This record gives sequence, structure tokens and C-alpha cells, in this order.
Amino acid sequence: MRADIYTLFPSWFDWFREQRHVRNALALGHAVETVDYRDTTTLSGRSVDDTPFGGGAGMVLRVDVVEWALRARYGVDPVDLGSQRRVIALTPSGRLLDDALATELAAEDDLTLLCGRYEGFDERILEHFCTDQVSIGRYVLAGGELAAMVLLDTVLRKLPGALGDEESAVEESYSAALQGLPEYPHYTRPADHRGWSVPEVLLSGHHERIREWRLEQARLRGEAQNEPLP
Ligand code: ADE
Repeated sequence: MRADIYTLFPSWFDWFREQRHVRNALALGHAVETVDYRDTTTLSGRSVDDTPFGGGAGMVLRVDVVEWALRARYGVDPVDLGSQRRVIALTPSGRLLDDALATELAAEDDLTLLCGRYEGFDERILEHFCTDQVSIGRYVLAGGELAAMVLLDTVLRKLPGALGDEESAVEESYSAALQGLPEYPHYTRPADHRGWSVPEVLLSGHHERIREWRLEQARLRGEAQNEPLP
């Protein structure tokens, strides 16, 4: 996979690239690269945003600035880019990121992530250049950078070999193997701590009973998550 992240803060991703599963993915030949909108803007003072038409607070990322940045890297009209690769804007109102979307994106060869800042994107960026809009939750961040890291974190760890232990991304919370349920509880040594003992079944060595117990626990957790708040 080759993931390009468009941002005003490329250095933020230096830390991200150092994380173990990301390093593993890079060592396997995948790429995570950043593109700074400011490198291709021709506006005075390397400006990238402007005040919203109609008034209101904050600044809006300009459509021409994003077009210049996309054209410079891909050499095509960004209107046609969507037929070659997923172009994803990180926005609070987008499709909510979940395990199914992460699995879908992990199957892509090329991803482009657009991070907005301040009040976000000029709507024409979303309408004409993007194939997807993704949100990591119904709250507003100062920009899309952290959301891009969250998205890439969950996508990259699904790539074969990125976690070291192949199994661990298969049977985990919300995966198809767990029927979309949250994960069951885990325990390790000591088997007893201050009288807090590990469920007997996990010490039994009885694989079928363990499997059933884990599925049941995942179901109970799923039900608890879906209970209405008091
Ligand atoms: N940009 C600002 N807030 C965001 C959110 N919640 N998800 C994705 N991108 C964002």
C-alpha cells in the first residue's frame, strides 16, 4: 500500500512512522508519505486558506490550493483521480470509521488522505476531488491529522506481517471472526492476584469450551455496549 497524506503539519507523522507496526509495514515495502499543501501554493505568503463566503468564524482550506497539490504529485486533473485511487477527506461529518471500513481500505493499493484545518474544507474539494469522507467520531478535532493517523493505524495493522503475530489482527474486537463483537477478556499470569482469580475455563486446556466461553463473553460485552445510557 502507498498512502499519501496531505497536511499542513508533515512533521507530526514522523512520530507515527516510528511506531512498531508502522515501521513493520514500511519494512515490508508499504509507504506512508506526507505532502505539504504549502509546497505548491502560489498564493502570497504561502497561504492555503481563506475566510468563508457568507461570513462566520474560522478559515477554510481553498479548493485551488488542494488542486495544485494533487496535480503536482499525480500529474492528472484531480477530478479524474478518484478512478485511480481512494481520495479520502477526514471530516467530522463523514462516514464513521469502523472495522469494516478499515478492512475495505486495507485492500487498496493506493490511498490519499486529505487533512483539513480550522473550519475545514471548501465544499468543492469534497464534491469534486474526493471519493470518501471519513470521520473518526462525532466530535470536532482541530484538524484531520490525528484522524488520519487513527485511520492509518487501524488500516496498516491489518496488512499481513505488520503486527508480527499474524493471528492477532484476525480475531480481535469487531472483526468478522468475532462476528463484529467487541473482544472477550484476556488474562495472563499470575492466575491469582489478591484473590482475583482467572476464570477456570481458561486454565482447563479445553479449547472448544474456551472458544465458547470467549464468544459468550464477547456477546455479553456487545450487549452491554448497546444498552441505552442511564
Ligand atoms: N477533522 C476534524 N474533526 C474530525 C473528526 N472527528 N474525524 C475526522 N476528521 C476530523
